[in-house]
Amino acid sequence: MLYAAPKAFFYLLSRSRHVKRLATRYGLSAKDGFARRFIAGETIEEAVAAARAVQARGLHLTLDHLGESVRTSEAATAATREYLRLIDVIVAGGIERNLSIKLTQLGLDVDRATCVDNMRRILDPAGRHGFFVRLDMESSAYTDVTLEVFETLWQLEHRNVGLALQASLHRTENDVRRLNALGASVRLVKGAYREPASIAHVRRAGVDEAFRRLARLLLDEGTLPAIATHDEALIDATRAYASAAGLPRDRFEFEMLYGIRRDLQASLTGEGYRMRVYVPFGREWFPYVMRRLGERPANLRFVIQSLLADRGGWR
Ligand code: FDA
Repeated sequence: MLYAAPKAFFYLLSRSRHVKRLATRYGLSAKDGFARRFIAGETIEEAVAAARAVQARGLHLTLDHLGESVRTSEAATAATREYLRLIDVIVAGGIERNLSIKLTQLGLDVDRATCVDNMRRILDPAGRHGFFVRLDMESSAYTDVTLEVFETLWQLEHRNVGLALQASLHRTENDVRRLNALGASVRLVKGAYREPASIAHVRRAGVDEAFRRLARLLLDEGTLPAIATHDEALIDATRAYASAAGLPRDRFEFEMLYGIRRDLQASLTGEGYRMRVYVPFGREWFPYVMRRLGERPANLRFVIQSLLADRGGWR
């Protein structure tokens, strides 16, 4: 079966306004609403509470204020203000200073200069307060421009910023080499977007093989790379390679998403690896949660159960 099939199904659902309305109504409504597993809540206060719980388990974290594909500069400015407020709340609350951001939330689709300005407005106070800021990677339509914005920020001497790259894309080895040469930190992920076979691996084996190869390249030549996956075979391969190369455990980190494989998060931390949890929150959770559902067909059962429980079960 094609690896991309469930992704395609949830991608289609994610484009439906009707599904979005229904999901937004029921996804967080009950205590066990299906979206609650994957997001820390809708407000900064809920995110801070979730972040404290993650820290209490001895894990590192990065906070993502959900939002993407904004269409106006007003919306991009509002998202930037939310990140500035988040920085203040994190500093005041003693939460780990690490953020993840999508450039289309800051106006990449509106105008690149606006997006760069918004990023700089965030990176300045973030830098003063010792934050690290990771740019998430969105669909392949944005790969070039995301790298270009990243390199612009780097040339402007922002060094508290890194980038995610997707093993699924054929181009990624070149991009890894480009960022390794700069000395920038890369988060390696499999890739959450539906992409055509002309530019991406569409079978799981191809993605996994590319991930292994790129993880080795990052461990050999990268700067504080993040190996971001819940795939135990890839995690084991990374551990084995790092250990054979004599790489200290603080020279790279593992990263996983909030709500997924908490058992593995705990065991890796227990073994002395750096383990960072990506904690998303905010009202614009729909596309993020749809991507999570598309990654695992079994999640569909979980959604249906949650919707039935919310409406009192079968009648
Ligand atoms: P895979 O999908 O093979 O899953 C391995 C195992 O993990 C599964 O068997 C299951 O046990 C568990 N699992 C994985 N996903 C699950 C889910 N949704 N629900 C329940 N269990 C699940 N992508 C992107 O394109 N741009 C980005 O910037 C980022 N950023 C990012 C940050 C971090 C910290 C992580 C961990 C991931 C991302 N991703 C991402 C998402 C990434 O591309 C990928 O879609 C997911 O991590 C799922 O792939 P795995 O590597 O976990 O493998």
